[in-house]
Amino acid sequence: MSEEPLLRVVKVTKEFAKGGIFTPKKTVRAVDEVSLEIGRMENVALVGESGCGKSTLGKLTLGLLKPDSGSVIFEGRDIWSMGKKEFTYFRRNAQIIHQDPYTSLNPVRTIFQSLAPPLIRNKEVPDSKAAYERLKELLTMVGLAPPEDFLNRYPARMSGGQMQRIILARAVSLRPKYIVADEAVSMLDASLRLGAVDLMLELQKRFGMSYLFITHDLGIARYFILKGRGKIAMMYLGSIVEAGEGDSVIQKPIHPYTQIMMTAISVPDPRLTRSRPIPKLRSLEVPRLEQVPSGCKFHPRCPYAEKICEEHVPELREFDSRLVACHFAERFT
Ligand SMILES: Nc1ncnc2c1ncn2[C@@H]1O[C@H](COP(=O)(O)OP(=O)(O)O)[C@@H](O)[C@H]1O
Ligand SMILES: [Mg+2]
Repeated sequence: MSEEPLLRVVKVTKEFAKGGIFTPKKTVRAVDEVSLEIGRMENVALVGESGCGKSTLGKLTLGLLKPDSGSVIFEGRDIWSMGKKEFTYFRRNAQIIHQDPYTSLNPVRTIFQSLAPPLIRNKEVPDSKAAYERLKELLTMVGLAPPEDFLNRYPARMSGGQMQRIILARAVSLRPKYIVADEAVSMLDASLRLGAVDLMLELQKRFGMSYLFITHDLGIARYFILKGRGKIAMMYLGSIVEAGEGDSVIQKPIHPYTQIMMTAISVPDPRLTRSRPIPKLRSLEVPRLEQVPSGCKFHPRCPYAEKICEEHVPELREFDSRLVACHFAERFT
């Protein structure tokens, strides 16, 4: 029997009601029977276009949203059947880093006033003085020196890059086992992005947590996974279409959607283009959850689509430890 992973998502579905006042009411299925596993100290990069349900899935794994069906299992326990004490333990161990660091902190409090109370409340430190010392260590760890200077500042007096470091320090301050980084580096200037990923991975070596790294940018996901190791899960209109070891997904994407996205970020190599034709999107129309195509959700844009793709939903099938939802996956393996 394999060991229980840190977090297991089993066939979770989440729908939202949309429209209503000026537009007709509609239900969108933001997450459609998704299953996912994240091991201890493991990384999973969740990649997909804007609006495909990534943040919703991230929130479901954190217990910030309740699934309509399916379950979220943390350390072997269903989070929605946990008692209060257990749920508190789970919430402390599952943290989030948002896209916008400025909205994550109260603007009228200094960094110390924001970061110290959770440490004391969770008995990480006995008192305010100890909290100050602990936060000095944490801020030094994330490269903010001298730490005293930053602890006494208000958010408005810091740059985006500095704020994102503060948010990282806060996320690890309770030594969680799991962190969801939802577009955590997307708002940073391009020049700061890779450094922020490096820092996340350094903190992981130190604290040993698992990351769910959510991004719409396959390039940054690739950097994160090649440097930190881990899995890649490709999401399309609420479904996982391909998942597997990062290295292998990057080198040999199987699902046509992954193939196209990978080609778009790779440096053209004439030797490769001769052996394998470059697939292109058949339609440039951006997919919307309000109008999910029949059969394979990707079929209107897929260069290889055939009749079966319009009619039947492809199952997520296993190919040497890779999961792929494509009727013709064999052709691409
Ligand atoms: N709280 C909510 N209420 C209504 N609709 C929502 C809510 N959160 C997300 N959605 C909708 O669910 C879909 C997926 O959104 P989201 O998970 O944020 O996608 P992503 O993070 O991939 O951009 C979108 O159509 C979005 O409008
Ligand atoms: Mg999002």
